[in-house]
Amino acid sequence: MALFTGTVVIDLEETDSTNNYALNLLREKQPFEGTVVRTFRQTLGRGQRNKHWESEDFSNLTFSIIFYPAFLSVSRQFQLSKAIALGVADFVKTILKTENVKIKWPNDIYVGDKKIAGMLIENTVNGNKISSSVAGIGLNVNQEKFSPDIPNPVSLKMMVGNNLDLENCFQQLCVALETRYMQLKTGKENLIDEQYHKTLYGLNEQREFIIENKNVNAQIIGVDELGRLKLYKNGGSINVYDLNQVIFKI
Ligand code: BTN
Repeated sequence: MALFTGTVVIDLEETDSTNNYALNLLREKQPFEGTVVRTFRQTLGRGQRNKHWESEDFSNLTFSIIFYPAFLSVSRQFQLSKAIALGVADFVKTILKTENVKIKWPNDIYVGDKKIAGMLIENTVNGNKISSSVAGIGLNVNQEKFSPDIPNPVSLKMMVGNNLDLENCFQQLCVALETRYMQLKTGKENLIDEQYHKTLYGLNEQREFIIENKNVNAQIIGVDELGRLKLYKNGGSINVYDLNQVIFKI
């Protein structure tokens, strides 16, 4: 069991979004660090770029963890995103017994060319520090059929061929996440950065992107300290992009 992550779990029969619930909780009080808000029936899950996160009832993990990373200044907030993404990737690698688990920038978890998990991290800032963070994680565990609108989904079950115990997965995932969070908290930022890049989907590869409504071929050079994607366009220069400036074509 993890030391603090998931030792308090608020289990909700149904909720719109566990991130919303956790953010509201933080407005009222200061829950114990590592408190998890979890549901197996999320009706309006939120994803990045204002997208919806779809998850079949009782099939997957959808939960949010409350952290207080006061050790992180606002300009270093992407470090937390890296640590959480690595934690989820570590867990998926352990279950699937493969290294072919990657982080697609900024923090989608991919197995091969398919997405198995996503996360939405919402920080509250106090002065120059991150006073609280809600790390919302959606991991496809036992779902096998997805809406055709979801481009390239996959689940653990689709990879291993059998159902997995959700509680078991949750406990193991909490340990993996806490391990990475503690690495960050104890100053192992270089290790996190190095492993994030090692796990980065498409690193050094020539890929297709949509930038300002145009198809662009570029090489992924890495991710800068602010979490922006660094791309090298043929014969051109290296440019950095925010999430809302570039779409990855898979
Ligand atoms: C993405 O891939 O765009 C991010 C998906 C994040 C989904 C999780 S599910 C639990 C938590 N609650 C939400 O409303 N969203 C996150």
